[in-house]
Amino acid sequence: MIKIENLNFSYKNESDENIEYTHALKSLSLEINDGEFVAILGHNGSGKSTLAKLLNGQIFPTSGDIWIAGMNTKDEDKIWDIREKCSMVFQNPDNQMVATTVEQEVAFGPENLQVENPKLRERVDEAIKLVGMEDYVKKSPSELSGGQKQRVSIAGVIAMLSDCIIFDEPTAMLDPQGRADVMNIIKTLNKDMNKTVVHITHYMEEAAMADRIIVLNEGRKALEGSAREVFSKVDEMKALGLTVPQVTEIAFKLRKDGYRFDKLPLNIEEFLELI
Ligand SMILES: Nc1ncnc2c1ncn2[C@@H]1O[C@H](COP(=O)(O)OP(=O)(O)OP(=O)(O)O)[C@@H](O)[C@H]1O
Ligand SMILES: [Mg+2]
Repeated sequence: MIKIENLNFSYKNESDENIEYTHALKSLSLEINDGEFVAILGHNGSGKSTLAKLLNGQIFPTSGDIWIAGMNTKDEDKIWDIREKCSMVFQNPDNQMVATTVEQEVAFGPENLQVENPKLRERVDEAIKLVGMEDYVKKSPSELSGGQKQRVSIAGVIAMLSDCIIFDEPTAMLDPQGRADVMNIIKTLNKDMNKTVVHITHYMEEAAMADRIIVLNEGRKALEGSAREVFSKVDEMKALGLTVPQVTEIAFKLRKDGYRFDKLPLNIEEFLELI
């Protein structure tokens, strides 16, 4: 679904006196398979959002290449196909709301793709049902809670039938219930609907749900592997300014104290079993 080869990206800031470059991504290569759920972790400023914008064709590589389903993001003729194939959900749902009702909001994406009724109606209804917002179709997005707004944004990309969805900290502004709801939807999209998911997050418990974790540090890939592989490297994660799920860390400390765990747990259920 996604192939990145030797990607470099620099922001250019010009003022009257000088030009400054920020090298946000450096020599990054990676592949993400169709149907995979990949979490991207990294300290503030490590380049996660830059990567998300590059994948969605909002900005373009300074050097190197990105292919989305075989289409190079530098190919201007393909830009709308790329954005349709690989759509994006942002951290702040307020920044992506454009319409006056929930159903218009969800219809916005597919309408832009020239989808017409009755197909449009069908897609919108299905997407709204999937995120559990059917009681709110006529409501204004401004009346919704943060978690509800984020569910509406996700319905918008579901209605576009994107095969790949990039989430840039979609739960960062939500309360625990909103976060749990959004994570359940993301899991359904990946497991039941076979969508490729790239999930950028600061929550280790969310990353633990992914098939694979990629850790960025100062624009480079620092660690990569299954959640268990990455979170077993507790000291390395700390050196990168990151943590691991709480239960993983407790078990890690108990193991240092002599408890014999043959694996480190990723969630409370696994931890209870080990104990
Ligand atoms: N528009 C911009 N102009 C100049 N520099 C930028 C711009 N956007 C980001 N940067 C810089 O690029 C680097 C990577 O930023 P990016 O937003 O991709 O990080 P991030 O991993 O998403 O961080 P966070 O966890 O805080 O969201 C940082 O050094 C940042 O200051
Ligand atoms: Mg960011």
